[in-house]
Amino acid sequence: MYENCKQAYISEIAQHKDHDVCLKGWLYNKRSSGKLHFFQVRDGTGVIQAVVSKSDVDLELFKAGKKLTQESSIIVYGTVVEDTRSKIGYELQVKHFEIVQEAQEYPIGPKEHGVAFLMDNRHLWLRSLKQNAILKIRSELIKACRDYFDESGFVLLDTPIFTPSACEGTTNLFEVDYFDTKAYLTQSGQLYNEACAAAFGKVYCFGPTFRAEKSKTRRHLTEFWMIEPEVAYLELDGLIDLAEDFVTYIVARVLEKRKDELEILERDTTMLENIKKPFPRISYDEAIGILQKAGKEVEWGEDFGGDEETVLSEHFDKPVFIHRYPAKCKAFYMKTDRVNEKLSLCVDMIGPEGYGELIGGGQREDDLEMLINRIKEHNLPQEHFEWYLDIRRYGTFPHAGFGLGIERTLSWICGIHHVRETIPFPRLLDRLTP
Ligand code: 4AD
Ligand code: MG
Repeated sequence: MYENCKQAYISEIAQHKDHDVCLKGWLYNKRSSGKLHFFQVRDGTGVIQAVVSKSDVDLELFKAGKKLTQESSIIVYGTVVEDTRSKIGYELQVKHFEIVQEAQEYPIGPKEHGVAFLMDNRHLWLRSLKQNAILKIRSELIKACRDYFDESGFVLLDTPIFTPSACEGTTNLFEVDYFDTKAYLTQSGQLYNEACAAAFGKVYCFGPTFRAEKSKTRRHLTEFWMIEPEVAYLELDGLIDLAEDFVTYIVARVLEKRKDELEILERDTTMLENIKKPFPRISYDEAIGILQKAGKEVEWGEDFGGDEETVLSEHFDKPVFIHRYPAKCKAFYMKTDRVNEKLSLCVDMIGPEGYGELIGGGQREDDLEMLINRIKEHNLPQEHFEWYLDIRRYGTFPHAGFGLGIERTLSWICGIHHVRETIPFPRLLDRLTP
């Protein structure tokens, strides 16, 4: 009699008000009184209270329900009724349920667990309400990023993961055997993006990137996802305009579409609602001034680290663009400022509330001789970059691009302290499992 019952999803439960449905999921939590069981049933899309009354179901089944363990897989059949006390506005009055499997004792209980334990059980931890909310927001954020570029005339071009050479310095490369030679896991799709920009004008890539980061900080993963636009005939100011418009768009989208999940995370969204254009733009020199005023000892010429970024980010209530860093602390491909050759035409965007650098990018060196000199200065093997130099040999053009790290951006949007919770299965200095 229940076989023909239509499967519904909790996220769409309102559509089924006063109708009979079946929900397929897991027992998230439960409490029982003599004549009633209150099952919290989750199906991945949400959690609903399913009320089982002794008088409505088979007696043996009711008894089995009493000792049903957390995370047992179950199918519940019943009527969707409105309930104003419920967070989702509805509950299920159960007519029948099936136990698909009685789960073994579940290791994650309501009591507090240490982070190491939770990370060891990441494959199970994902089922929790909070982790579920973070990763749904991640999915929305990625869609927003893709939509922005897709709707603005950009072409998505995937760049390789095996690469013969470094993009972001040689100190944090993951080396792999590639038949008779060495390859590295990509640190960034940028160099390939530049070739694509010459072919297609406005392009972006989106994929995993790898850095053998020796730093054990709350902002570093060894595998993270980056979205990288690259635009032909775009210069530094235009690039900052693009980044500002993009960040405004993605934040607004997540606020619009993922209100419930942000609420589950108890995220105070007032700062996020304030993310409107324009964002402050300051030079590296001005940033040094702010840091010194705040009592930080910083030497001109050094890149900013996590501590400096935190101070700078707390100084503004919006993301801040910092441009024109000293060329010596930036990558070989950065175009120098022809007004002051010591500076790069680069930009970092530091997120507010202490979330650090979310975007790095800039204008690319488009002069062949200058670029060859930079490759030499950085002791990079020129033969690996001949194809890259060709972009300067055959119709060179001003161009610029940036990379936004998905996990750092998500940790900011969600108000999550550590990036390890912003990716389903994080890879860290000391973690390769599960
Ligand atoms: O500043 P980065 O290193 O820039 C590049 O890779 C450029 N080639 C991008 C481009 O211009 N196309 O990295 C860009 C962003 C950072 O701002 C940060 O958000 C993120 O990538 N990121 C990391 N996220 C997590 N863990 C790490 N280890 C990260 N390293 C960089
Ligand atoms: Mg950077």
